Amino acid sequence: MTDTDPEQSADAHQPLEWRDGDMPYSPAFGDHFYCQTDGRLECGHVFLAGNGLPPRWQGKNDFLIGELGFGTGLNFGETWRQWKLSRAIGQQLHFMSFELYPMRRAEIDRALSHWREIDAERHALAAAWPETPEGTVSLRLDDQTVLSVVCGRALDGVAASEAGFDAWYLDGFAPSRNADMWSTELMRRVYEKTIPGGTFATYAAAGFVRRNLIAAGFAVERRSGFAGKREMLCGIKA
Ligand SMILES: C[S@@+](CC[C@H](N)C(=O)[O-])C[C@H]1O[C@@H](n2cnc3c(N)ncnc32)[C@H](O)[C@@H]1O
Repeated sequence: MTDTDPEQSADAHQPLEWRDGDMPYSPAFGDHFYCQTDGRLECGHVFLAGNGLPPRWQGKNDFLIGELGFGTGLNFGETWRQWKLSRAIGQQLHFMSFELYPMRRAEIDRALSHWREIDAERHALAAAWPETPEGTVSLRLDDQTVLSVVCGRALDGVAASEAGFDAWYLDGFAPSRNADMWSTELMRRVYEKTIPGGTFATYAAAGFVRRNLIAAGFAVERRSGFAGKREMLCGIKA
């Protein structure tokens, strides 16, 4: 897998294949970026509901979501859409994602154009997205929403970030195809940066992922997965 060697420079670009016109696939990781049924609905079921969102936004002045794997920005786009529907005046959302191979603007635009529901978010994201994403891309997308994409290995980015995450989207490709994004060390760092009462959610259900999350300190729960998937995991830092 030389194309996806995590030791490669952070500005490396991941070659994509496109299936059915707008569905990106990573030949290097041998995986799709989201489920083939409907990635936007999957995001709502797994990442938002799995973290108790939108209800947990209520009454919080500031809310920080961490994501492992920005990919196309679909999770961000759907989260931003739901945030705009439920936020109150003065509340702030910061969505911070960690990504080794940031996509190009045209790739983000192509993938997200699949969903008319997030047209507004796609246009705004594509307009603000830099030509050459590097370092930390920080975008104030509206007066209540900031997106940061920390380019580089998630382990390094999370280790270097300040604590204070309210919720995590663990979205690093299938554990069998990218064990790095589910390692003991990374799950330990995720836990360390989470506030007490903070949560995570993921579509993954692999035994080693569950064990790593438990070893890190999370109370882990199994729930029904999206679209017939038997299980997913979510949990809380008690
Ligand atoms: C399943 S995709 C994420 C999908 C994304 N959340 C979305 O909404 O489109 C997994 C992402 O993790 C990234 N990735 C893989 N290994 C990584 C690593 N070690 N550190 C940071 N990002 C990594 C890949 O480049 C890919 O974009």
